[in-house]
Amino acid sequence: MSGKTINHIKGMPDLLPSKKDAKTAEDKAQSSDKIPATILWQFVEQHIRNLVQEYAYDEIRTPILEDTNLFKRSVGEVTDIVEKEMYTFTRGEQSLSLRPEGTASCVRACIEHSLIRNGQQQRLWYIGPMFRAEEPQQGRYRQFYQLGVELFGVEGSEADAEQIIMMHELWRRLNISQFIKLEINSLGTVAERAEYKTKLIAYFAAHIDSLDEDSKRRLNTNPLRILDSKNPKLQELIAKAPTLLEHLGDESVAHFNKFKSILDSVGIAYTVNTKIVRGLDYYSRTVYEWVTDELGSQSAVCAGGRYDSLVGQLGGADTPAVGFAMGIERLLLLVEKVNNVNKSLDAYFITQGDDANGQKIALANKIRTNCKNIKMQVHFGGGNFKKQFKKADASGAKLALIMGDDELQNNTVSIKFLREEKPQVTVSMTELVNYIGG
Ligand code: HAM
Repeated sequence: MSGKTINHIKGMPDLLPSKKDAKTAEDKAQSSDKIPATILWQFVEQHIRNLVQEYAYDEIRTPILEDTNLFKRSVGEVTDIVEKEMYTFTRGEQSLSLRPEGTASCVRACIEHSLIRNGQQQRLWYIGPMFRAEEPQQGRYRQFYQLGVELFGVEGSEADAEQIIMMHELWRRLNISQFIKLEINSLGTVAERAEYKTKLIAYFAAHIDSLDEDSKRRLNTNPLRILDSKNPKLQELIAKAPTLLEHLGDESVAHFNKFKSILDSVGIAYTVNTKIVRGLDYYSRTVYEWVTDELGSQSAVCAGGRYDSLVGQLGGADTPAVGFAMGIERLLLLVEKVNNVNKSLDAYFITQGDDANGQKIALANKIRTNCKNIKMQVHFGGGNFKKQFKKADASGAKLALIMGDDELQNNTVSIKFLREEKPQVTVSMTELVNYIGG
């Protein structure tokens, strides 16, 4: 057996307790050095959990692996995700795929378990890894985490607006509002889009020689996606193309106007960007993206919209729905610019003298019994008193708790304040609780 080490798969980074400096060129290329530490994940996830609860959403957890047909029928056969980016394999007779996103699984589960029977409203959220075989770079990974939020059973755009307000509040709580802007659009209904598609095909067909290979292929399968092209040579042609917004029916216009008026009424700024078509096929009416200039080309931090036809399309009763998903890594890259989150230990426990050293674990246990929830690290590995103090200081703990043979005999603990100019004190075990977490 060779002792060669095995590394993580490209684009599927480990999330580490502290941020690692890139040591090798390979590290840099894989961007795993750029991922913020797990302590920042916990900080952000706590904010997310609080917020979704405040807005009455319940958590759903679905498997990471699904029948490939689920994504073909929801995200769409002629999309980058399904055509190029899914991790798909066959097991027995069945084709399985690692989920590239969460909406499809969420809808499947709702239909399968009758969570949205008879137009019943349902508010669900999920967080977890998604998989897309894209070229990794800063903010873009092959395994990445999404927070997803989905609301079923409400047709009116007050639901769309409430989700925007909720995200806006999250940016505020995380101090990152200054980095994020909102762009919105409406894709109309399926029928309106079909009519528009005909006009768009005619427009691009008249300029067929200017199209690149990708766009030519999309012309008759998914012409709206041409609008999404990043090819600089196509930008002028795209800018002059007819817009879907000009082809909406009265109800779709009213839906969009109501949405905008609610955002106005709560003072949330937005721009209408008629080029937002989204890379997934299930959308209708409202679509939007929260974008940033801080992350290079990976500008979308959070994106979503309405998908009123998807439940019916996947075999459920017609149910309007609206939702969004946020890339947690991208969010964290913004959060770490302004939030300094440190490991917050209450105490570091050290002992001195043969008796106390010998009983270290039992003594630490006594402290934990007296001070419920104390966040305390016990010193392991011996060393003289000075060395133990150094470790206590480096741990980031607020207090060093010391037990020598005197303390052991008197049932007391000595407290050294590591972050404040205060003289050391010796207190009884029961008094100790007053110094913790304060
Ligand atoms: P999406 O736009 O494909 O939408 O992804 C949502 C977010 O996931 C993106 O805005 C981005 O922040 C993040 N993301 C996507 N791909 C990657 C990647 N390779 N690496 C890192 N982050 C990434 C959806 O997935 C829809 N299911 C959203 C939705 C929910 N619509 C309605 N409900």
